[in-house]
Amino acid sequence: MILFKRPDDLVDFIQKKRKSLIKIGFVPTMGALHQGHISLIEKSKSENDITICSIFINPTQFNNPSDFEKYPVSIETDIEQLELNGCDILLMPSVTDIYPENFQKSNFELGYLETILEGKHRTGHFQGVCMVVNRLLEIVNCDILYLGQKDYQQCMVIKKMVLDLKIPVKIEIMPTLREANGLAMSSRNQRLNETEKANALSIYEVLKFLKANIFEISLTALKEACFLKLATKGFKVDYIEITDELLNPIDTTQRNQTIVAMVAATIGEVRLIDNMIINNANNSE
Ligand code: PAF
Repeated sequence: MILFKRPDDLVDFIQKKRKSLIKIGFVPTMGALHQGHISLIEKSKSENDITICSIFINPTQFNNPSDFEKYPVSIETDIEQLELNGCDILLMPSVTDIYPENFQKSNFELGYLETILEGKHRTGHFQGVCMVVNRLLEIVNCDILYLGQKDYQQCMVIKKMVLDLKIPVKIEIMPTLREANGLAMSSRNQRLNETEKANALSIYEVLKFLKANIFEISLTALKEACFLKLATKGFKVDYIEITDELLNPIDTTQRNQTIVAMVAATIGEVRLIDNMIINNANNSE
């Protein structure tokens, strides 16, 4: 694996490689890698000639300074895992490489996606995500961008940005990987203690409960039951929402409609998000 710290060096490298019509896959991360990230690397390797991963803890997407300061860092094991899994290139830029002094901040038009769910609870978060992903895409100039479904709303936001800015990249969204107990893999899980980790599986249980009962019980009663279950396990719940595929909240359900359950809740100091497609017109999760 080749490690690039300076984006300009990677840009030069890619420009040379591009002369031989290669296909490039890109997996952006904030490090603290887990099997979910590795599954994206594997997918990219199977579809491209070169796979690039970036590790950059992006300050502009953290609305809470303490969340930024406490974001897990494990560079050495990250590099080992990437090498072990055949990643070709790692980009590890500094904050000033990504946001140099002359960096022009733009405002991304994200519409309702910025005012609901994560957008509502983390003001400015998605502007920060777009800012960094747009910048990274400029640098890596990839053919396919790989993202995880665990960040369902982030995937929609990035898709919108790519479409609006006419960035010539295909986006592939890979399924959420889970621990043996069902907890969605996340870098933030590293910050959970054993008890919190055991209790955190209730998020998955709640999602499964919603899926099993979506056509059986009223949505209000379902959400109340889930709220209670998470609160009993020590969670402070930001939202439990039932939406359509585009994340518009729904108040009635239809069997021929894709229905998504979205959850965000904090246990101890750690805020976790998860989601599940609980009814899919084609095939369910
Ligand atoms: O999902 C993440 O890890 C981050 O939001 C991303 C896409 C790498 C941008 O910083």
